[in-house]
Amino acid sequence: MFKQINEATAKPVVWSEYTAELLWADRHIAKQMLSLHLNPDLSLASRTPAFIDESANWLVAEFGLNAASKTLDFGCGPGLYTQRLKAKGVGTVVGLDFSENSLNYAKEQANQANLAIEYHLGNYLDYSDARKFDLITLVMCDLCALSPAQRSVLFRKFKSLLAENGSIALDVYTASRFTKQSESLSLEKNAMNGFWSAEEYWCIQSSFTYQDDLVTLDKYVISQADKAWTVYNWLQHFTVEMLSRELAEHGLAIKAHYSDLRGRPYTEGDEMAVIIGHQ
Ligand SMILES: C[S@@+](CC[C@H](N)C(=O)[O-])C[C@H]1O[C@@H](n2cnc3c(N)ncnc32)[C@H](O)[C@@H]1O
Repeated sequence: MFKQINEATAKPVVWSEYTAELLWADRHIAKQMLSLHLNPDLSLASRTPAFIDESANWLVAEFGLNAASKTLDFGCGPGLYTQRLKAKGVGTVVGLDFSENSLNYAKEQANQANLAIEYHLGNYLDYSDARKFDLITLVMCDLCALSPAQRSVLFRKFKSLLAENGSIALDVYTASRFTKQSESLSLEKNAMNGFWSAEEYWCIQSSFTYQDDLVTLDKYVISQADKAWTVYNWLQHFTVEMLSRELAEHGLAIKAHYSDLRGRPYTEGDEMAVIIGHQ
């Protein structure tokens, strides 16, 4: 027991594990995630419908999207942005996600609304396409869940998929948010209202901060009668300078930054949105 608790609460080396696929692809968890995405009152997995409406309107106006435009949404989930962009008349709308459950929902919604949206199931870090896109999106701070090595793969991909005058719109957690994070440890039965499993379980949650890297980790060790597993939820926090440096290695640069993807003027807060283009 001593050894097991020691292991469950040990602080791992920064970015040493990656379990995002488990988090999004497990059947029970995927269902829980989808209901979080679709809950109009919660801003946990997706933002609220009013926010997404405003965001889609802003993206279309800001980037002059029309029937000749091509957009590509990384981690599109249930298609809340793709659906709106297509309904606003964007020509080619593509969504990528590795959650089959969320993509099935997105496809159903598109069929019902008679919208020709292209959805691809799979890890977006492996996606390739010969087309060039006018707008690439990665929303809900998803970049923050990727390690530096994964970000490098993603930025190389962005560079090759971006049209000459195209833009990448994404949001991230800020260094200012990081200063408010602290370390903690908890043990709770069926934590998060049964989020992790349909069976009874115990959850040991350890939250760690990595001061030099501006990274936080929520490590969940979930034990039920027949199995135990661990989920690592890493979050990178950024300054504009940090992100600019990483992008420059791939010939990309920040063209503008805002408070969020509704185009609100930048003020210091927990999140910021950036518009990226070719250098
Ligand atoms: C926080 S949700 C945001 C969903 C959507 N962008 C929104 O705002 O409604 C993150 C989404 O990214 C997907 N995702 C995360 N990492 C991925 C990867 N490496 N490849 C494909 N999809 C990924 C998840 O399945 C999930 O649907």
